[in-house]
Amino acid sequence: DKGNFRHFMAKEIHEQPEVVSHTLARYLDLNAMKTRLPDDLPFDFRTLNRIAISACGTAFYAGLVAKYWFERFARLPVDIDIASEFRYREMPLEPNGLSLFVSQSGETADTLASLRYCKQEGQHIAAIVNVEESTIARESDVIFPTLAGPEIGVASTKAFTCQLAVLTALAIAAGRARGHLSEEDERKLVEALVEIPRFAAQALRLEPQIERLAKTFSHASDVLYLGRGTSYPLAMEGALKLKEISYIHAEGYAAGELKHGPIALIDETLPVVVIAPYDRIFDKTVSNMQEVAARGGRIVLMTDPKGAEAASIDALETLVLPDMPATITPIVYALPVQLLAYHVAVFMGTDVDQPRNLAKSVTVE
Ligand code: F6R
Repeated sequence: DKGNFRHFMAKEIHEQPEVVSHTLARYLDLNAMKTRLPDDLPFDFRTLNRIAISACGTAFYAGLVAKYWFERFARLPVDIDIASEFRYREMPLEPNGLSLFVSQSGETADTLASLRYCKQEGQHIAAIVNVEESTIARESDVIFPTLAGPEIGVASTKAFTCQLAVLTALAIAAGRARGHLSEEDERKLVEALVEIPRFAAQALRLEPQIERLAKTFSHASDVLYLGRGTSYPLAMEGALKLKEISYIHAEGYAAGELKHGPIALIDETLPVVVIAPYDRIFDKTVSNMQEVAARGGRIVLMTDPKGAEAASIDALETLVLPDMPATITPIVYALPVQLLAYHVAVFMGTDVDQPRNLAKSVTVE
């Protein structure tokens, strides 16, 4: 049932404040303002050597964001791979490593094959899944469910933000267990997570502006997305979302890579979406944005009030999100990124919920 929405994708985008809140409630103790994981975890964050994350598509980008979090909060090295590459690479895995699989459906063939490889190599196996009765869930030592509810739209939206919600709670718990985060650090981070639903609801209010902007995208043959830090995986996620439902070619790049190649693409016809909350690397991203502006690129800047003021650039359009703690920006900024892809696709008249050539669950390799 689509409720009052035209598409399942729109409904699922709008459900995010609620389902992210449900998911967080599962992994946070809101009285003590701490993370809360099962007592009987089959591994110990204190003694883990490494985490190896494998996943496909959008779930892979969630894993890539988590790499930044685990490394920052827990000083725990993370390898992150596309499952279809990982499964054939025969990567050496040291004892006492955690293999973490991220999958909405829990049935993705390449992710499952990676899981079986890691199991054979004696790794601890954990999975973040949305479908708890899935094969990946069954074959894992422990699962961390996302409580997104059934996701019908082929393009993943609410599963992604719920995956991020679980991953950030895991990374904070790991940081606390390993002694890299104090009780006070944990409390501050949990306070930030608790605010996500409110900020996400505020972000959804940008929809009318995004809808108008989407019309100007429909003429583009390519779109570039740029971001740094945890906004970099989000840039790739934005590009994936746009190409899969609007069929407009898009690429996500780390902003710092711009001058190593993609800057050659910039001209007056290329929209460039810059995801840049006002964080400690904001200035670096802005200098990349100035390089785009100097070459006539059409910029869409997603930032916050401080960023909008500091950017001092004639941006084509600025989407101003609320000011929020840096840790939660990839979750909240995902919403305008999804809405942009959605409205471009609606304007183009594509089959948003069932884009051509795609299946919801990829059970063959
Ligand atoms: C993109 C999308 C796909 C899936 C990928 C993995 O919108 O939906 O890229 O994320 O096929 O699927 P799961 O998470 O079911 O393993």
